[in-house]
Amino acid sequence: MSNICVIGTGYVGLVTGACLAELGNQVICLDIDKARITNLRSNIMPIYETGLKQLVEHNTQAARLSFTTDYKEALAEAEFVFISVGTPPNPNGETDLRFFRAAAESIADEINHPVIIVNKSTVPVGTGDLLTDIIHKKHSAKPLKFSVVSNPEFLREGSAINDCMHPDRVVLGSTNRAAAQRVAELYKNLNCPIMITDLYTAEMIKYASNAFLATRISFINEISNICETLGADVTQVAHGMGLDKRIGTSYLSAGLGWGGSCLPKDVTSLMHMASINGNNPLLLQTVMDINRNQKCRAVSRLREALDSLDKKVIAVLGLSFKPNTDDVRDAPALEIIHMLQQEGALIQAYDPQGMDAASTVLKNVKLCQSTYEAASNADALILVTEWNEFKQIDFKLLRQKMRGNIIFDGRNLWDPDDVQKAGFVYFGVGRGS
Ligand SMILES: NC(=O)c1ccc[n+]([C@@H]2O[C@H](COP(=O)([O-])OP(=O)(O)OC[C@H]3O[C@@H](n4cnc5c(N)ncnc54)[C@H](O)[C@@H]3O)[C@@H](O)[C@H]2O)c1
Repeated sequence: MSNICVIGTGYVGLVTGACLAELGNQVICLDIDKARITNLRSNIMPIYETGLKQLVEHNTQAARLSFTTDYKEALAEAEFVFISVGTPPNPNGETDLRFFRAAAESIADEINHPVIIVNKSTVPVGTGDLLTDIIHKKHSAKPLKFSVVSNPEFLREGSAINDCMHPDRVVLGSTNRAAAQRVAELYKNLNCPIMITDLYTAEMIKYASNAFLATRISFINEISNICETLGADVTQVAHGMGLDKRIGTSYLSAGLGWGGSCLPKDVTSLMHMASINGNNPLLLQTVMDINRNQKCRAVSRLREALDSLDKKVIAVLGLSFKPNTDDVRDAPALEIIHMLQQEGALIQAYDPQGMDAASTVLKNVKLCQSTYEAASNADALILVTEWNEFKQIDFKLLRQKMRGNIIFDGRNLWDPDDVQKAGFVYFGVGRGS
């Protein structure tokens, strides 16, 4: 059993804290968001993540997990301090380290015993040194014994607890191998490969992994566009490719492009790091361009099918950036809705979990309570996020509700025959011409 403090209770921090408590550790989670901590103390989750509420409740009741806004209290007993605050992008693609610096300063202010600081936030290569400098500076009069370990997080929203408890690998980077090995002890019962590297390499593994995942999706989207002009079906092409063990099937689904709180900002941050250090990240730029183009193509398709988008009612299914999360940060739906609105379209949208988050960022969108309400009197419908509940749509009922007969299946979720049989004109992504 170890005493652990987790800073930041978002998608990464809360899941990490709950999982470390579940493994038998004593965990205190801290956030500067007072309302969030008050709610967590009453077992009200700030995010939607399958199984999270039960895990938090179980460990809170077992007195292994608690919440605070007070750094002094949070750090009092901590042997390990995990940082998991947000690292959003600046407009130029660079990572905004405001929250990270503030957390580091607060740790430096309140810590006065030996500690291992484990960073889970995704930060530019070299940020571990910045953390070390911040702590050193505040303790220059009476040096403090501490170590910094980079522990990049690879969990996926929507399956975060499973990913945290059954990771493909744990990466630990440090200039102090003994400290990394102590962090490795925390993960030893997870039965996964644990890789210990230097600090910069660990930080880079995170960026390279996300850039590669984004590249795979942009690759299959480019193939899907070629499939459309040549009359091939990208879903079968991807399946046929994926059966090759060297390729595999994951992140090979053609669609409306990738989004979310990580891939876009991590790819742009990597490009920024590359550029300021004299590299020219040609492939990454193309990966980004293809991704943006994929959304533009969807809007063009709808415009062509409806002659014009002006005053046309478009039903949008799915607002979260992927299924099983309420996270709408950089969600493809937001950009598509914006482009449709710019051409005068009227939007009616529905998402199983993302409505609250979407309502804070969308303007002039009718947010509906169901698929069928969103489809009412719509001229066309576009599926943006492939939630399970959209798999079993009653297309006959949908046809009765809608004014028009255009369906754009942006995730190739449906069987075109089922959709066409109900009287719709079906468009998919890369499914023939
Ligand atoms: N969300 C993911 O799927 C995911 C996956 C892997 C890595 N990451 C990385 O993990 C980090 C956290 O991401 P997230 O999605 O959990 O963020 P988030 O925005 O959901 O949560 C961040 C939390 O940190 C809190 N916070 C901000 N400044 C603070 C401070 N000074 N002290 C204490 N708390 C503070 C915020 O109030 C918020 O609750 C980011 O660097 C992200 O890139 C995220």
